Amino acid sequence: MLEKCTFETERLRVIEWHAGAADRWPRPDLTDAVRSILTPAVTRSLPPGWQGQYSAERARTWIEEQDAESTVLVVAEKASGEIIGLVLLSEMTSEQGGADVQVGYLLAEHAWGRGFASELVAGFVDWCRQRTEQLVLYAGVGADNPASNRVLEKCGFSPVETGETGSDHGEQKYRLDLR
Ligand SMILES: CC(C)(COP(=O)(O)OP(=O)(O)OC[C@H]1O[C@@H](n2cnc3c(N)ncnc32)[C@H](O)[C@@H]1OP(=O)(O)O)[C@@H](O)C(=O)NCCC(=O)NCCS
Repeated sequence: MLEKCTFETERLRVIEWHAGAADRWPRPDLTDAVRSILTPAVTRSLPPGWQGQYSAERARTWIEEQDAESTVLVVAEKASGEIIGLVLLSEMTSEQGGADVQVGYLLAEHAWGRGFASELVAGFVDWCRQRTEQLVLYAGVGADNPASNRVLEKCGFSPVETGETGSDHGEQKYRLDLR
């Protein structure tokens, strides 16, 4: 289901990162986009293995790793056509028969502070609400990331209490139940 995810918001166009390969987003652009987005300020709150400089080779390896584990969406600003962010999604069948979807997102540094993440996550939640499948969305936020906490709360996510599925290593888990 997630690989078919594509939606637009007022300022953003979002599409699975290989879906537009033939026309709008050829592979070399994807490598360049990953290199320009994964700067030290962006990866600071993300997994330690993602930190450091990105050569073209490392960006290609990163893309392959994400393809093996997740569905990735590219986020383009409509006005410029520039890729300004990525959404990483992984889906598991839940015990109740619906699906649990883990949501991660990152925006290029120059795009911060303009409401793009809130618009992006709200757009994704709207897209999910239109599915017939019973979905529960999850996101994890590092303790040092108040902007991301705020984005999730604005989009209707609630913190998961410690001891439920739990906060882990200073990470706060959030959930939005769309069933
Ligand atoms: C976190 C991130 C996605 C936010 O993107 P963004 O487009 O700047 O977010 P928005 O502008 O939509 O919203 C940020 C909100 O947090 C608030 N905020 C920003 N910095 C804050 C801070 N230090 N303390 C409290 N609130 C803060 C903003 O005021 C805004 O809330 P408002 O709309 O009520 O004013 C972006 O900084 C990013 O990609 N960071 C690196 C990767 C990352 O951390 N991803 C999330 C992993 S969980």
